[in-house]
Amino acid sequence: MPRYGAERLSGIRCISTQLKLEPPSEPILTAMAIQRLDTLVTLALSGGGFERRGGGATGYVKATYLAHLLPHPETAWTVSPPLSLDVLVNQDFLRLVEGLEEEFRREYVARQVDRDQDQVLIVGLMTDKETPQQFQDGLMELARLVETAGGEVLQTLQQRRPRPHPQTVVGEGKVQEIALTAQTIGATLVVFDRDLSPAQVRNLEGQIGTRVVDRTEVILDIFAQRARSGAGKLQVELAQLEYRLPRLAGRGQAMSRLGGGIGTRGPGETKLETERRAIQRRISRLQQEVNQLQAHRARLRQRRQHQEVPSVAVVGYTNAGKSTLLNVLTNAEVYTADQLFATLDPTTRRLMIPDALTQEPRSILLTDTVGFIHELPPSLVDAFRATLEEVTEADALLHVVDLSHPAWKNQIQSVMTILAEMPIAPGPLLLAFNKIDQVEGDRLAHAQEEYPQAVFISASDRLGLETLRLRLGQLVHYAMSS
Ligand code: GTP
Repeated sequence: MPRYGAERLSGIRCISTQLKLEPPSEPILTAMAIQRLDTLVTLALSGGGFERRGGGATGYVKATYLAHLLPHPETAWTVSPPLSLDVLVNQDFLRLVEGLEEEFRREYVARQVDRDQDQVLIVGLMTDKETPQQFQDGLMELARLVETAGGEVLQTLQQRRPRPHPQTVVGEGKVQEIALTAQTIGATLVVFDRDLSPAQVRNLEGQIGTRVVDRTEVILDIFAQRARSGAGKLQVELAQLEYRLPRLAGRGQAMSRLGGGIGTRGPGETKLETERRAIQRRISRLQQEVNQLQAHRARLRQRRQHQEVPSVAVVGYTNAGKSTLLNVLTNAEVYTADQLFATLDPTTRRLMIPDALTQEPRSILLTDTVGFIHELPPSLVDAFRATLEEVTEADALLHVVDLSHPAWKNQIQSVMTILAEMPIAPGPLLLAFNKIDQVEGDRLAHAQEEYPQAVFISASDRLGLETLRLRLGQLVHYAMSS
């Protein structure tokens, strides 16, 4: 097992022999880097030689190569030109290794400055299931998710395979490349763009030597950092525990070396094998609490329905501008940020709109909901059912789309897919294309043509808001009379 530790070498010096007169091959050097060998000496054999009178042999070794790691990220190693055996044996290996370790230590200390920020290597696997565009969009989104979670993306590696490798997702050679790259660039965390099975995480962590998490863990981590209300925290903890429980065994080594970071926040890491049962009990208790929360919300909703104030749930892909819109419409102080999932807890505000028939002002309730995301992890859909229920219980939906986002069409699709999977079909829906202040005329015209029923607005620049109010009035009228 390699001795991981960016500031040390392994203490092992390796001598290998080969018949050809050429420097050690890339795979051998990669192995040296992953094992963190002090040095690697390659002896090119000549196939013959003779014994010296008085002892010793000569001629058997044609030339030698001396290879060792380098402490800077640009080049992982260096290999000497062919050296004669005499020159090689006169090298002061101890001084060489001590000098190298000293440099590694300095480099390591320099990296420690940013220690509480995860240094992330992203790995994407493109399978036959997706188009290159979808794949690239997914990687971009993952990078944003990692940044939102507080990590710094150092590099992205990709592989194309018809199907994920059952044990390691990517192929064997790619795992080596990941291990090497992670070590060279000083990554503290490797994030995969797809869900990993518990066994895959174990295999990958064993071979790569850093923590390995998947997209769902990153999203859970963001949710854990963002949840503010008691209810939100409760649901995140439940989702995290349910997701992590099967993944806990055998992760002690890779987890314990590092302090905090993506995938470690929330319900702390413990010796889980022994505490499994305690966790299961906690899960059932949290489930009960979430159920109570649902009952409580249901009562609140009933009271609202009693007052016959129509309700509209604002849905949309994360970062579409839902909270901003709610703020400008109702002057509410809803937390907005250019971050994914800025909103986690539903906020309900009263809004006055013109009645569709009489034009008299009437009030409706507008509820901000959690941002949607492509392939929302199933554990989250479940844990956030209390939030998403606002969607099915609302009389109508306002679907906010960020038209300035390159993947706006896919985002509409993702939201629609999640809505279609709701246990109760949601009410009528009004599409509002937001951020038109940042959109080229061509795209605007294209969207207007494709979605003639939609409203086009800019929440931040307060464009199109009067039309939106009018259309909300019609939407609510239609919803209540149908
Ligand atoms: P989640 O909480 O992730 O679901 O996001 P959200 O949909 O509530 O988005 P939010 O309102 O937090 O806005 C996201 C970002 O988009 C913020 O930086 C806003 O300032 C920005 N934004 C919102 N509306 C507009 C707009 O009309 N034009 C432009 N240019 N930016 C906008």
